[in-house]
Amino acid sequence: MAGFVAFGLFTVAASAQSANGKWVGTQRLLDNGEPVRVYLDLHQTGTVLSGTITTIGHVYEVKGTLTGSHFELFSSPQDKKPRVKGDVAGNELHLIRDDFPFVAVPAKPGDEYPPYEHITPPALHDVPSNGMAKTPPMGWNSWNLFQSNIDDKTVREMADAMVTSGMRDAGYVYVNIDDTWQGVRDAQGNLHANKKFPDMKALAEYVHSKGLKFGIYSSPGPRTCAEYPGSYGHEEQDAKTFAAWGVDYLKYDWCGARMIYTHDDLQAVYQKMGDALLHSGRPILYSLCEYGSGNVERWGAKVGGNLWRTTGDISDTWTSMTANIQKQIPTAPYAGPGHWNDPDMLEIGNGHMNDEEYKTHMSLWALTAAPLLAGNDIRNMSQVIKDILLNREVLAVDQDPLGKQASPVKHGDLQTWVKPLADGSVAVGVVNMGDAATTGTVNISELGIGAKVTSARDLWRHTAVTFRDGAYTASIPSHGVLMLRVK
Ligand code: GLA
Repeated sequence: MAGFVAFGLFTVAASAQSANGKWVGTQRLLDNGEPVRVYLDLHQTGTVLSGTITTIGHVYEVKGTLTGSHFELFSSPQDKKPRVKGDVAGNELHLIRDDFPFVAVPAKPGDEYPPYEHITPPALHDVPSNGMAKTPPMGWNSWNLFQSNIDDKTVREMADAMVTSGMRDAGYVYVNIDDTWQGVRDAQGNLHANKKFPDMKALAEYVHSKGLKFGIYSSPGPRTCAEYPGSYGHEEQDAKTFAAWGVDYLKYDWCGARMIYTHDDLQAVYQKMGDALLHSGRPILYSLCEYGSGNVERWGAKVGGNLWRTTGDISDTWTSMTANIQKQIPTAPYAGPGHWNDPDMLEIGNGHMNDEEYKTHMSLWALTAAPLLAGNDIRNMSQVIKDILLNREVLAVDQDPLGKQASPVKHGDLQTWVKPLADGSVAVGVVNMGDAATTGTVNISELGIGAKVTSARDLWRHTAVTFRDGAYTASIPSHGVLMLRVK
């Protein structure tokens, strides 16, 4: 009966089902009480569907196919997950978006979202440096583990744990709340936090009382990635609100800006918040999050950025982690004190890579002078994970004052990275990309430090090592790393 659906006593051709037309439904309520309405404008030709999905925070062009009553709509052929999937059920669409089920009904005139006003950002100019982030910023961020399940209590517990675990004293000082803290704007346009964060100023004070710094998140768009209010049209006002709360760090995430701007506008749009932060009355470190688009490494520092994402979102897998670091390679010349390339936050301790892979993650981030924002539950870390995040010899490589980003000198199954350091030594990482343990060799001739090694340390075994005939050889587990500091 493929292609046909039994329907009472009759059998009708599946293609008789139709998702054609304009539909609207409320997917869920945000934590600030606002509904996420989804408006679908779909065109069906035979079993092929195309059209537009508009939500409170995103607009997607989509394509898909109807099989029987079921359809899945994708916004790009590379997408693994559909933007929306569902079934035609009589005069309704039964839909699932981001794992939330909801029902859409035929839309009436006026149900569509009104277009946003286009605000042209000011002309390009160089934003003076804020003088911050002389070494890559270190801290913790809520997103990788908690996503939208973050609240005041959890952030306070993280601040406590930053101290008791020794993270703060090792240099991890920022405690950063990512997306989903936002409430709504009041009549004066001031943005408030939602019920999960009853008093942001008090929370910032608590974080500061622990000798830590406090970070927050917004977007240049009207909405953030998770569809909460962004800073569009309120840049100066929000920068002043953040300063009044005691914010020390802003992650500014492009996502919802796509509804208004194109990639050609990236620099001017980021510059607008760069200026706003400088005039906020408080030093606020500026983190650009635009997934590496628009050659950000060439202009990130000019808009006042202290770090900028060079990649899409990391996930807790070997493939994602290593893919992100490979994308760092062309950006190396642009890193330096005050402005860093960001291959995204750490997944160390989140449970889906093994300990060798997490050591490699840590080593590669340190070698590439990446910001180190832990993304795990630091209230509850195994000794192994603590030893990885708190390895002072590896942290010293990341935080080296020269601020050079390592580049690979050898590719293939044993990829070798070299990072020059301020005291004339170099950090070397040999990563075993293969599926079996093997031996790796570091040749002094590859390191650019002359012909004689005066000292060398293995930064994971914490032992001195000896070069013989200009080389050092050691075994490296699958997906593991040999990391040395050589002088
Ligand atoms: C984007 C960013 C992530 C995170 C989420 C929050 O995907 O790249 O790091 O901030 O948005 O919605």
